[in-house]
Amino acid sequence: MGSSKLHQNDANCVWVDGPIIVGAGPSGLATSACLTQQGVPSLILEKSDCLASLWQLRTYDRLKLHLPKQFCELPLLGFPHNFPKYPNKHQFISYLESYAGHFSIQPRFNQAVQNADYDHILGFWRVKTQDSEYISRWLIVATGEHAEPVIPDIPGINKFNGSVVHTSSYKSGSEFKNQRVLVIGCGNSGMEVSLDLCRYNAIPHMVVRNTVHVLPREMFGFSTFGIAMALIKWFPLWLVDKFLLLVANFILGNTDQVGLRRPKAGPIELKNVTGKTPVLDVGALSQIKSGEIKVMEGVKEITGNGAKFMDGQEKEIDSIILATGYKSNVPTWLKVITMSCCILFSF
Ligand SMILES: Cc1cc2nc3c(=O)[nH]c(=O)nc-3n(C[C@H](O)[C@H](O)[C@H](O)COP(=O)(O)OP(=O)(O)OC[C@H]3O[C@@H](n4cnc5c(N)ncnc54)[C@H](O)[C@@H]3O)c2cc1C
Ligand SMILES: NC(=O)c1ccc[n+]([C@@H]2O[C@H](COP(=O)([O-])OP(=O)(O)OC[C@H]3O[C@@H](n4cnc5c(N)ncnc54)[C@H](OP(=O)(O)O)[C@@H]3O)[C@@H](O)[C@H]2O)c1
Repeated sequence: MGSSKLHQNDANCVWVDGPIIVGAGPSGLATSACLTQQGVPSLILEKSDCLASLWQLRTYDRLKLHLPKQFCELPLLGFPHNFPKYPNKHQFISYLESYAGHFSIQPRFNQAVQNADYDHILGFWRVKTQDSEYISRWLIVATGEHAEPVIPDIPGINKFNGSVVHTSSYKSGSEFKNQRVLVIGCGNSGMEVSLDLCRYNAIPHMVVRNTVHVLPREMFGFSTFGIAMALIKWFPLWLVDKFLLLVANFILGNTDQVGLRRPKAGPIELKNVTGKTPVLDVGALSQIKSGEIKVMEGVKEITGNGAKFMDGQEKEIDSIILATGYKSNVPTWLKVITMSCCILFSF
């Protein structure tokens, strides 16, 4: 069985027989299942009250995986055969729930790790949550790169009279019908939320302050990601990037002309060097071309009822959606790592 034997004393101090895994997202579940298969017990600590909290609590209704299912399934148990090529979020969540059930994974919910320290003298980790301390020889970090929303400090935003939400709280454009909405950020979230807003007759103004690579989700019926992964095994990265951009320009046209300037580095090189993910287009680009989504330069200042932009334009705005990305929370709770302690990051 996957669950670790726990030894708890009165002071809420818990000795865990196997590794402690922090986070019950896809990575934490996969790690626990693989350990179980090797006969190693483990304990998952999860801050929210459900598994895969990013997917259950912090994603919008219309979200679908943008990579084909074979690239997103977890080890040892694949997706059901009847799933479509791009499962939606509800299908992905149901898969993760049955995955956890299959391997008898029972995370401890409502346990937010606030501190993890390695005791060099005794040789174990002390992992503190809001009400307990867990002790184990091994610590596995599976809290992901999207643990906290990035909320930038934009001049004047506190004076804005309308609503301001981050994409992690956005569910659907139905709440923004007929509104002029400023979407700040043009990653996959900014693009997909802008597209969703169009479907509800809202008027999205999407802020693009920088360069961005937009690629078609598929090239000639095959997933762009799959093609890139296959080519990279045989060809140098720069050549694969050149090929992707050549085909992307052929399919999508020159994105510079609609205000989406491409970075100098190719999409895979940029991902490797900066971690910046290319946008996989699922329909936003054609809405940009037709003017349904308006591309705006960087924001200079937010006012009571609108925004001033770097190019001197001013627009009246009803609501703001921050599509400004996410960050890890590991630096806030994981203390000094040295070579002598066993810590693993699970991706
Ligand atoms: C909108 C959106 C769409 C995405 N779509 C795709 C996609 O189509 N394909 C793809 O491959 N990737 C996608 N991603 C990337 C996403 O990060 C991965 O799909 C996947 O969720 C990563 O799994 P993970 O387990 O590493 O992290 P997460 O899914 O983020 O899980 C981490 C878990 O750790 C918990 N946690 C965090 N901090 C603590 C703490 N201090 N104490 C205890 N628990 C904690 C969280 O509550 C969460 O349950 C998407 C991301 C976003 C934001
Ligand atoms: N369907 C899907 O599968 C799907 C959907 C959504 C997201 N995702 C994934 O989720 C992850 C996160 O994506 P994301 O789009 O939320 O975040 P992201 O890729 O980090 O993009 C954040 C965007 O916000 C901009 N930004 C940040 N601060 C800003 C500021 N102060 N002013 C103006 N713009 C600002 C960034 O611009 P700069 O580049 O200039 O910093 C960037 O355009 C990615 O891995 C993505 O692929 C997947």
